[in-house]
Amino acid sequence: MKYKRKGIVLAGGYGTRLSPITHAKSKQLIPIYDKPMIYYPISTLMLAGINEILLITTPSEKESFKKLLGNGNQWGINIEYAVQDKPGGIAQAFLIAEDFIDKNPVCLILGDNLFHGDKLGEKLTKSSLNYNDAIIFGYKVSDPQRYGVITFDQNKKVIKIEEKPLIAKSPYVVTGIYFYDCDVVNMAKLLKPSKRNELEITDLNNLYLKEKRLKVEILGRGMVWLDTGTFESLYEANTYVHTIQKRQGNIICCPEEIAYRSNWITLNELKFLGKNFMKSEYGKYLLNLE
Ligand code: G1P
Repeated sequence: MKYKRKGIVLAGGYGTRLSPITHAKSKQLIPIYDKPMIYYPISTLMLAGINEILLITTPSEKESFKKLLGNGNQWGINIEYAVQDKPGGIAQAFLIAEDFIDKNPVCLILGDNLFHGDKLGEKLTKSSLNYNDAIIFGYKVSDPQRYGVITFDQNKKVIKIEEKPLIAKSPYVVTGIYFYDCDVVNMAKLLKPSKRNELEITDLNNLYLKEKRLKVEILGRGMVWLDTGTFESLYEANTYVHTIQKRQGNIICCPEEIAYRSNWITLNELKFLGKNFMKSEYGKYLLNLE
């Protein structure tokens, strides 16, 4: 059976931890250095070879995202839109996306996560081609209690994931990119709302774990995973992108470039896109690619 390469970007929520920046604008539309935040997760999906994308937004922001991204065809992909009426938890994305998923395996990425690193695309592509399990990625951080924390036994086997525990049992946490097999919608339907009245992604992962169908891969220290949930982390993400881009002269998470290098658009189409932004450094970068 040939499955489609599908991915969901969850860009719901009110971003209240970033008020007033997010008072009149969705968090995922604010910039990380030279491009809107949403470019980063979309680029990550594209690097994983995923070209059918459902973007889940808040009702009020759907049109702004559409204005920015259109139907995705300019990047050789398809982007569809759906809304999450109220913040109902990350796992609710699978219920909203049931028709889009249509019994295919699917990747979910959070709209405010930034991944960067050598061979990241190859690693993610491999995961996106695994059709029998759920695959999540662990990453060592200095402040694990802010995230879903992975607990291991003495043999380094994963025994549990705990959502934002007061005391973290390990420094390894779950990042915001998740790959699931085609059972994910049915599994999500088994979830009950948590204390904060949300369908938790951690509960979904623990369900897969109970059935011995959860693989946890560690992203090593050479990989970069940043989130942008606070002023501090948003500022750090801006600085990181600026520093690396300035040093290398390469743009991080540039969907136009990824589309071109994946042969989803031609050089002529790339130049056409560059001309639209001719006056910015971003546009000039596109015009100079070959
Ligand atoms: C969510 C998940 C958490 C995960 C994190 C990654 O946290 O609930 O398990 O580690 O994303 O960014 P939240 O965005 O709700 O703080």
